[in-house]
Amino acid sequence: EPTAEQQHFEHLISEDSRVEPRDWMPEAYRKSLTRQVSQHAHSEIIGMQPEANWITRAPSLKRKAVLMAKVQDEAGHGLYLYSAAETLGTPRSVLNEQLLSGKAKYSSIFNYPARTWADMGAIGWLVDGAAICNQVPLCRASYGPYGRAMVRICKEESFHQRQGWEILYELSHGTEAQKQMAQDAVNRFYGPALQMFGPPDADSPNSQQSMQWNIKRFSNDELRQRFVDMIVPQAEALGLTLPDPDLKWNEARGHYDYGQLDWNEFMSVIKGSGPCNVQRMKRRREAHANGAWVREAAEAYAQRQARQAAE
Ligand code: ACO
Repeated sequence: EPTAEQQHFEHLISEDSRVEPRDWMPEAYRKSLTRQVSQHAHSEIIGMQPEANWITRAPSLKRKAVLMAKVQDEAGHGLYLYSAAETLGTPRSVLNEQLLSGKAKYSSIFNYPARTWADMGAIGWLVDGAAICNQVPLCRASYGPYGRAMVRICKEESFHQRQGWEILYELSHGTEAQKQMAQDAVNRFYGPALQMFGPPDADSPNSQQSMQWNIKRFSNDELRQRFVDMIVPQAEALGLTLPDPDLKWNEARGHYDYGQLDWNEFMSVIKGSGPCNVQRMKRRREAHANGAWVREAAEAYAQRQARQAAE
């Protein structure tokens, strides 16, 4: 016999309603959400690094201001997401420790280097574009704090995608060398951006349960297909090609077919052997250590406030 609490949870899910922090929830639901939301938060924070790398070298004051705003937005996304994750019961210090110790994952895509200015364009267009495709359905995730955080994040991601598109558009309509730089960036980021959606459905251990719980609304392959269908005409408008000889319209399916992705590479990147994993983690540990005084000061301030309130 399910308890009244269990029935309430099942009812919320079957009504496509929202689960809030005060509600009873199965331990497995709590655990899987903590996993997904914290990995998502870590990705936003680690994702600041490839772009921060270009702030000092942006080609104009305007580009620099835009890029700085974008990188700050990513920090904000990390903060909303850590806050949403904390409502599930695990403190941020613990989540952070899981990242620093290498136990928690973060998105594969941020383990690739940003080599040229055009990479800022490709990251905005393809990486943030993939992020939007994946995250818009998460605005309806059954867990309230996560879904609400995603609404604002998606609005900001749309701006990020537009700024990436605009960088690539200018480069692809510039000199021959600029156009080549844009094409080279797209060549390097296309495959890894498609892999952001996660392993193929048959190899995705979490999807089925997450979909039953209304956390995920579409499978990894469904969202990947949606993304491919979206970027093909956009690439044409940019005058750039997508580096996949198997990419072609399939009239019967009403979708673009695309070629096999390199899943061995993906597995090796998420296991820590991508081109920049070591560098990204080293930088994050340094930043955390350098921020110790801020955490200590905030803690001392909070304690003083609490003492004064008690007096
Ligand atoms: N990079 C790193 N790890 C990944 C990736 C990826 N691109 N895709 C899947 N994985 C991991 C999963 O986290 C899972 O590992 P775990 O069980 O140890 O947690 C494993 O591979 C198997 O994958 P799935 O069973 O498909 O996992 P899940 O159902 O959680 O789906 C997905 C993965 C699609 C990434 C989902 O967690 C999600 O939508 N997350 C929110 C979005 C997000 O995190 N975006 C971050 C990048 S976008 C940005 O920050 C700009």
